[in-house]
Amino acid sequence: ARNPDADRYEIVQREATMEILPGTRTPIWGYQGTFPGPTIESRSGRTAVVVHRNELPVPTVVHLHGGHTPADSDGYTTDLVLPAGGTHTAHAGMHDPAAKVTQVEREYVYPLRQKAATLWYHDHRMDFTGPAVYRGLAGFHLVRDDEEDSLPLPRGERELPLMIADRAFAEDGSMRYPSIDPTLHTVHGVEESYVEGVLGDVILVNGAPWPVAEVSATRYRLRVLNASNARRYDLALDPPPPGGQAFTQIGSDQGLLDAPRVHDHVTVAPAERFDLVVDFGRYPIGSEVTLVNRLGAGGTAHVMRFRVTRRATEDSHIPDRLADIEPLDRTQATVTREFSFRGGRIGDRHGWTIGGHPFSPTRTDVRPRLGDVEIWRFVADVHHPIHLHLVHFRVLSRGDREPGPYDAGRKDTVDLRPGEAVEVIARFDGYRGRYMFHCHNLEHEDMGMMANFEVF
Ligand code: C2O
Ligand code: CU
Ligand code: CU
Repeated sequence: ARNPDADRYEIVQREATMEILPGTRTPIWGYQGTFPGPTIESRSGRTAVVVHRNELPVPTVVHLHGGHTPADSDGYTTDLVLPAGGTHTAHAGMHDPAAKVTQVEREYVYPLRQKAATLWYHDHRMDFTGPAVYRGLAGFHLVRDDEEDSLPLPRGERELPLMIADRAFAEDGSMRYPSIDPTLHTVHGVEESYVEGVLGDVILVNGAPWPVAEVSATRYRLRVLNASNARRYDLALDPPPPGGQAFTQIGSDQGLLDAPRVHDHVTVAPAERFDLVVDFGRYPIGSEVTLVNRLGAGGTAHVMRFRVTRRATEDSHIPDRLADIEPLDRTQATVTREFSFRGGRIGDRHGWTIGGHPFSPTRTDVRPRLGDVEIWRFVADVHHPIHLHLVHFRVLSRGDREPGPYDAGRKDTVDLRPGEAVEVIARFDGYRGRYMFHCHNLEHEDMGMMANFEVF
């Protein structure tokens, strides 16, 4: 039975080619055959049903990142959508007999009982998320609500979702994803360890290398998503606007902040979203402004360009108060749990572990009670962007001090820095069932750095 109060979308996952680098065709795996996939726009509180049909040669799994989603539609890593055409092995079924391995088409139901936010959907198949997302399986899913719509923020063509992702290409235009062999690889002369995460030497924005956007001399809302497998960015504007403070952050992973915050630059780890307002009215007409990556070098130091081509009437401003946010605090927590995120040996290979274990789909690592508030303390050896499904959280502390400048707001992914401890607080409400938390460096994730929590 179809729900008349639901919006229905149909997406076919298929192979295609795209002109990404001028003059070459790049084979991709795309939602609707495009990279990024189509942007889905939904209303908060209104169910979105997305039917995915898999015409790729491999099984897939679709996860709505940031979605407050019932477990059976969350895209658990072994809940496969099987290839419609070719032959396949029910690989995940061997690990998890309960996994649903019989569909070539699958209906994902998203009730979206959550605030307006920049969500995204991407592949999540166990052990193969990195290569699948790298080939193109990622798209935006924007959720809107009345609270946000009532604010005078830049909208329409002055709202730009920017999916930032790095890729490496072979001469014929095909993407170079290092093989599954966890040894050293050479990407354009640079020795790179696949184990650390796969990096490209070209930055793409919405699938295009170093694009230009023509803008009016007024405010724009940039919905920045770092969809890279492993690369972190430190974004800034070059030249900076007079007086600095290039970015006014209005939102984070899970929607609007309570109040805006200004930044000269913004560090973005994989899977994080930053909603940034830039006022191009601070630049003279005719200026070219580059969005740079201060952590990059050569081809990875530039992200995109803006050309300020025309005068504009001011039609937006940023209010001092943005959203009402439930302030969770320590006294509400029933428990504090600690998890270490570390490299380690898994069998005869190097892998990544949480609490000393590589991922197993048959082990429940944590069982939060429905409705409980918990503090989770994460400790890292190297950089790990940690993501929890189902919930949003607030960062309570970083390095046993105040949260950092990029930790504000409702988050679902937090960047752990080497040797640092981060505490987050979350309420496990909404749905019972089995969910994952993991490192969003996709190679770390594929090499074991994922665990299960079951809300009971
Ligand atoms: Cu964006 Cu479990 O992932
Ligand atoms: Cu997620
Ligand atoms: Cu990691």
